[in-house]
Amino acid sequence: MSRYQQEFTRSIEQPETFWAEQAKRIPWFTPPSTILSYDDQQHARWFADGEMNICHAALDHHVDQGRGDQAAIYWDSPVTQSKKVISYREMRDQVAHFAGALKNLGVEKGDRVIIYMPMVPEALVAMYACARLGAVHSVVFGGFAPHELAIRIDDAKPKVVIAASCGVEVNKVLPYKPIIDDAIKQSTHQPSACVIFQRDQGVAELGPKDHDWAELVKAADFTDCVPVMGTDPLYILYTSGTTGKPKGVVRDTAGYAVALAYSMEAIYDMAPGEVFFSASDVGWVVGHSYIVYAPLLRGCTTVVYEGKPVKTPDAGAFWRLIEEYKVKSFFTAPTAFRAIKKEDPDAKLLEQYDISSMKALYLAGERLDPPTFHWLDDLLDVPVIDHWWQTETGWPIAANPRGIEAMPTKAGSATVPVPGFNVQILDREAEQAEPMTQGSVVIKQPLPPGCLVGVWGDPQRFHSAYMAAFPGYYLTGDGGFFDEDGYLFIMGRTDDVINIAGHRLSTGEMEEVVGAHPAVAECAVIGIHDELKGQLPVGLVIPKDGFDGDEAALEKELIALVRDQIGPIACFKQVLVVNRLPKTRSGKILRKLLRNIADGKEYGLPSTIDDPSSLQDVHDAMRERDVGSSTKAQPI
Ligand code: COA
Ligand code: AMP
Repeated sequence: MSRYQQEFTRSIEQPETFWAEQAKRIPWFTPPSTILSYDDQQHARWFADGEMNICHAALDHHVDQGRGDQAAIYWDSPVTQSKKVISYREMRDQVAHFAGALKNLGVEKGDRVIIYMPMVPEALVAMYACARLGAVHSVVFGGFAPHELAIRIDDAKPKVVIAASCGVEVNKVLPYKPIIDDAIKQSTHQPSACVIFQRDQGVAELGPKDHDWAELVKAADFTDCVPVMGTDPLYILYTSGTTGKPKGVVRDTAGYAVALAYSMEAIYDMAPGEVFFSASDVGWVVGHSYIVYAPLLRGCTTVVYEGKPVKTPDAGAFWRLIEEYKVKSFFTAPTAFRAIKKEDPDAKLLEQYDISSMKALYLAGERLDPPTFHWLDDLLDVPVIDHWWQTETGWPIAANPRGIEAMPTKAGSATVPVPGFNVQILDREAEQAEPMTQGSVVIKQPLPPGCLVGVWGDPQRFHSAYMAAFPGYYLTGDGGFFDEDGYLFIMGRTDDVINIAGHRLSTGEMEEVVGAHPAVAECAVIGIHDELKGQLPVGLVIPKDGFDGDEAALEKELIALVRDQIGPIACFKQVLVVNRLPKTRSGKILRKLLRNIADGKEYGLPSTIDDPSSLQDVHDAMRERDVGSSTKAQPI
């Protein structure tokens, strides 16, 4: 057996022994004696009686071990022309004082705190300060609109909201304070205080419940870490599901810390003192795991980048950062490289930089499409690694485990299941699919440490969304197959979730927003292929009988509505008013068929279709408006 196979087999056959060994990677206040236990619904719980604090493990512990002067953070912000180096000691002190500030506002263990911040070091300080107190943070991505923020405020019921006064995008300053004020106005739950980190690019006016970050910190004491139990929640991170209400994924503390520490070595091949750069955002799971927590748990330096792959100032930005900070492992989404390739197809800008420090490139967030894989593989001398994971799992489910054994890569495959993840492919009858046969990708229980432990405030939803479809297995929502060599290929979602520029969004949620417009009788939102962003949403709308308004004006209103309710990140920019939608005789809209037409594929007439001419109508409407590749689609 290869080293990988040995380690994988041990993790599946003897999970308790395997994870008890990995638990030694982090410092405990009280080491766990119970490694694996189950809750009353038979979901795995890890390290239930261990006591620790992830802030202690990632900061204080390293300072105590002599790493105090090493850089914890390299902050690089081309959009504000700023850079900063923060040592482990400075970071620990900032966090300890900000934790004191939160304590003075009444934040205690178990309280929730919502964080709405751009890519500034203070976002990490805020997250770690919550962890230090045992409070549960919930970071909301800056591209979400007030309505989405309000949904999260009502669900998480935070005692305090922490925000920056503004975000800075390419050539524009986005004031965050009006978004916070509007969200709090829309929500039923009222946080008792709001802390604003003032930025020079856009200073916010403060109201009676608002506090200035700097003033609060001045009055605060250094505050120690509060011990928490292994299974206590560290954070809630909302993600799109198939309905309008996002799911609050709950992450525990110790299992997460152990899994991240293990992954930094087994997958990312990182040693203490080395530099890790993940070009994501703290608002997404990749940011939580591989910008904020994992690099510091491992004693590495994390690069916090407030910029884009292109236009800040050009498509050489990532190469510059890799050279400047001597990055060893670099992680981003394929869409970022599609943007770079579009602006600099021959990678001329790479010639200006020495990126020899980089030993591997990691991509995730969406499938690494073979053309982008080949472009990178031809360009770089290092392995190009596609790895697959989701908000729910918190760390990679399938990857090329370089730290255990580097395996040959295959275009289009995320390589092999990571130790701990018993991945299987099931067909509709819940039977194991043969190699090369596509099915539902599931993970056999127990899920390894680090994965979600529930949906916030809704235990039933955890069960119905993930565990009910195939008893004994966690449903990933992705379709895929194993090849004859055991390589896993993830082919896309089997539900209404779409992936826009590596961001997960729900077409179901967009349909709820569009369908709520008084002039709309019925609608379908589908995700269609896009060269740059992977997928983009398109709305198809039937107006109510008697609608005699301007169709173009209605389309504009619907676009504005989605932007206002969900946010610019939904990239909802195309709506078509149509007379009919193709449906089955039982009234189900044939969304897959609509997607095939928009993607320019051949399509057949399903036997279940109610009115075949409706299909022709929609295809004509799409062709006329040049939707996707619909001009190429052909009926067969
Ligand atoms: N705060 C507020 N608004 C934001 C935002 C933020 N943090 N991030 C994005 N937005 C807005 C943008 O301003 C834009 O608004 P607009 O419609 O007014 O222009 C909209 O959301 C879409 O943004 P984006 O997806 O960034 O599109 P883009 O065309 O500006 O950039 C890419 C395209 C490919 C460069 C960009 O999507 C990208 O960098 N993707 C990588 C994503 C990534 O790393 N994902 C990690 C998941 S692992
Ligand atoms: P998120 O929860 O936002 O991280 O999105 C998770 C979803 O993104 C997964 O369920 C997949 O559909 C998709 N995804 C992420 N990484 C990959 C990958 N490497 N290959 C294929 N799909 C991916």
